[in-house]
Amino acid sequence: MDIEVSQEVAPAYLENVLPILQNHKFKQLSRYTQHCWTNRLMHSLNVSYLSWVMAKAFGCDEKAAARAGLLHDFCLYDFHEKTPTGEHQAFYHPKVAAKNSHEIFQISERERDAILTHMFPLGPLPRNKEAWIITVADKVCALMEFCHIAIALARRNRVVIVSA
Ligand SMILES: [Fe+2]
Ligand SMILES: [Fe+2]
Repeated sequence: MDIEVSQEVAPAYLENVLPILQNHKFKQLSRYTQHCWTNRLMHSLNVSYLSWVMAKAFGCDEKAAARAGLLHDFCLYDFHEKTPTGEHQAFYHPKVAAKNSHEIFQISERERDAILTHMFPLGPLPRNKEAWIITVADKVCALMEFCHIAIALARRNRVVIVSA
């Protein structure tokens, strides 16, 4: 399975996230439906791109925003499953995403915080600007996805997931 990105997408963005996009475990996110109409890979790309754009506009760390956005839901299981701890999935999945991201991509503290707090107000308060950006971008993308409105990288075949 491969991810093809159109030339409309900023090369500077791709530079920040390429090692993650090329990782075979990460690409498995395409197997999971997210917000009814999309899959978790496409949702993560959208949150990442929107976060990168916002971070650039506000003078924040755009690489951390792009990476944390891409990894914020890095969980390879169905969110309808029961959690092993009995916690609601809203509180549980950010911890799994942070653990998986740490193990595979050596994320920074800033990126880890952003992943752990992206469900705010369900869960802890974001502690840095990039974390606030991720939590806002996640909600904007989720709302658009539920309404079946294509934004960011979901528009006009900006990203195509090619099955092998
Ligand atoms: Fe999430
Ligand atoms: Fe999300």
